[in-house]
Amino acid sequence: MNNETNQWNADCYREHADFVWRLASPVVELLAPREGEKILDLGCGEGTLGLEIAKSGAEVHGIDLSVNMVRKAKKQGLNARVMDVVEMPYVEAFDAIFSNAVLHWVREPKRAVEHIARALKDGGRFVAEFGGMGNVARIVTAMREVFSHHPEYGTFNDFWYFPSPQEYRSLLEQHGFNVTYVALIPRPTPIDDMAHWLALFSNGVTAQLSHNQVVQFRQEVRERLRATNYTDANGWMADYVRIRVRAVKQSRTVAQT
Ligand code: BEZ
Repeated sequence: MNNETNQWNADCYREHADFVWRLASPVVELLAPREGEKILDLGCGEGTLGLEIAKSGAEVHGIDLSVNMVRKAKKQGLNARVMDVVEMPYVEAFDAIFSNAVLHWVREPKRAVEHIARALKDGGRFVAEFGGMGNVARIVTAMREVFSHHPEYGTFNDFWYFPSPQEYRSLLEQHGFNVTYVALIPRPTPIDDMAHWLALFSNGVTAQLSHNQVVQFRQEVRERLRATNYTDANGWMADYVRIRVRAVKQSRTVAQT
């Protein structure tokens, strides 16, 4: 995400996207935080998961690009700062780095992994979950189709990074990690309305559109998705596919061999 699109409305997020942290317990379990550890919550949002992790007795630090989210996180009691993962100054500072539902927004994944590796102590673990290959494929297809029906919108900008397990494993291994777990997990997720999802998450895609075009775009995408992502019985659903990963930073001597 860039600086124009990262200023989430924290209240809307809490109202329409609380599933982001409600469904995150498996990744917190995979982290298995321990008392006394120093842990970075990368993309901490309003701090809910960071505070959950802190219950273990770990010292949790949060970073997030959004000023609004960091303000909320601090209010909730998390030690949080506005910072971009690709500009983290940390060197061998953390026992673990945790991240939920963030890394698909980072358009320089290699730089992100470089900074994550540098920020971890030797033997430190990186545990993350985010959008993996095929994530929100129907939603992205509908967006692309609406763009192609409206040449006046300009080029469709595919905004996200959704790697396959093989691709992400390889990226981590190139940066000195031993990948102990990586999996792609389809997780169709009930949402209250596709209109709210689009309002919260498609700003990057519609950045170059006028206000009226944005309204039209969202309506047309929603209509297209009615056939595949809506049922009268269950309401709206987002076709999420997560990639979940645990990797351990090898000590330099091991990494070089
Ligand atoms: C996700 O969490 O997978 C996601 C959220 C918003 C846009 C794209 C993906």
